[in-house]
Amino acid sequence: MEKLLIKGGKPLKGRVAVSGAKNATVALIPAALLANDTCVLENLPQIRDVSVLKEIVEKMGAKVQMNERGTMEIVSSGLCNSHISNGKVKELRASYYLLGALLARFGEVSMAYPGGCDIGLRPIDQHIKGFKALGAEVEIEHGIISLKAKKLAGAHIFLDVVSVGATINLMIAATMAEGTTVLENVAKEPHVVDVANFLNSMGAEVKGAGTDVIKIRGVERMHGSTYMAIPDQIEAGTYMIAAAAIPGGDVVIESVIPKHLDSIAAKLIEMGVEVQFNGDSVRVRNHRRPKSVDIKTLPYPGFPTDLQQPITPLLAQAEGTSMITESIWEGRFRHVDELKRMGADIKVEGRVAVIEGIESLSGARVSATDLRAGAALVIAGLMAKGETEVCNLFHIDRGYENLEGKLASLGAEIKRINY
Ligand code: EPU
Repeated sequence: MEKLLIKGGKPLKGRVAVSGAKNATVALIPAALLANDTCVLENLPQIRDVSVLKEIVEKMGAKVQMNERGTMEIVSSGLCNSHISNGKVKELRASYYLLGALLARFGEVSMAYPGGCDIGLRPIDQHIKGFKALGAEVEIEHGIISLKAKKLAGAHIFLDVVSVGATINLMIAATMAEGTTVLENVAKEPHVVDVANFLNSMGAEVKGAGTDVIKIRGVERMHGSTYMAIPDQIEAGTYMIAAAAIPGGDVVIESVIPKHLDSIAAKLIEMGVEVQFNGDSVRVRNHRRPKSVDIKTLPYPGFPTDLQQPITPLLAQAEGTSMITESIWEGRFRHVDELKRMGADIKVEGRVAVIEGIESLSGARVSATDLRAGAALVIAGLMAKGETEVCNLFHIDRGYENLEGKLASLGAEIKRINY
């Protein structure tokens, strides 16, 4: 077993580069299976969710190679299996994109229910509703989802909730359906646009990604393509928060798309932090204890739920009382109990957390309960007096490439040890 040891109190200084976007990558890999051909995906992050997905598609007959610079070649001409028996699908949420991709390519697929972080109920009813509208028969038995369609046909689908997963999955499934599909009330996250761009580079006709309505004109077939994933805006946001966490911090975060960081930049500025964009980098400086703020998580371009946990430790040490309203995931406050072990004064009532800022967190033994909770505890450890031990690192490794290495390069006293 491994844990992180962090000695808190050192302001971060220097430059750090952001990796490719996790939540784009986990959809790009299944989307690559639409073509009976070779796709090359560049700028992919070296994280556990990617290696698990690689194993799953290899088991299905695809040939996959990834180099240390994050370039993955996927040869899916040998793909032979639309029954995904691999228990690994439960290790990540995004395995649900295999449903859309294989349904489109083979007209059938069966797979166990996907897993992922435990952050509240994670229904996939909107994915299922969309597959049905496209003409698929859906059976769910003994935890296995089976989809079958003689021929998918374009449909008009209005999503009941704004869902990133359902938007991307239905976009993938509709690429080769007969006729035109219109998806309404869709998610506008940058990774939705990224997947649409990749699909178009493979010959699909997807229009409107990044707005409320996406139109997909079905094409006969898709072909291989070379495509570069966008930078991870949640990883970038995590380093922006870490840079602001300790007074004296001065960090330039490189390889970002500034537009994707508007909401986190605005919130940090409201807290008194200096944020300056310059080309594809952002410099974050902080000289004093941050001011309290209220945050409500919303679909893009609102404040992302995935940064709600990482920013909580800053609010825990801010001057005054802050309030977080989590409107996406009802169970995304499991990091709070761990922060309380470090002295944080936080009360959670349903979807709202009220945070009374204290002078200083104190180091403690804490456990990452999910991916972004892990990032929150690492940031809390960087801020706290004394030593913090963070265990359950597999959650962090699912989604952050070399988190401790990047933080150490900024001067943090952090190391991974076996115990
Ligand atoms: N929802 C439904 N029915 C559905 C799908 C979603 O009711 O069929 C609800 C959910 O319960 C939730 C809301 O809609 O309340 C939004 O869920 P969404 O489908 O957008 O989430 P997701 O696709 O499962 C992705 C990211 C999450 C991120 C959310 C929101 C991936 C693999 N995961 O999840 O990322 O929090 O969008 O932006 O893309 C993370 O990276 O730490 C993470 C959890």
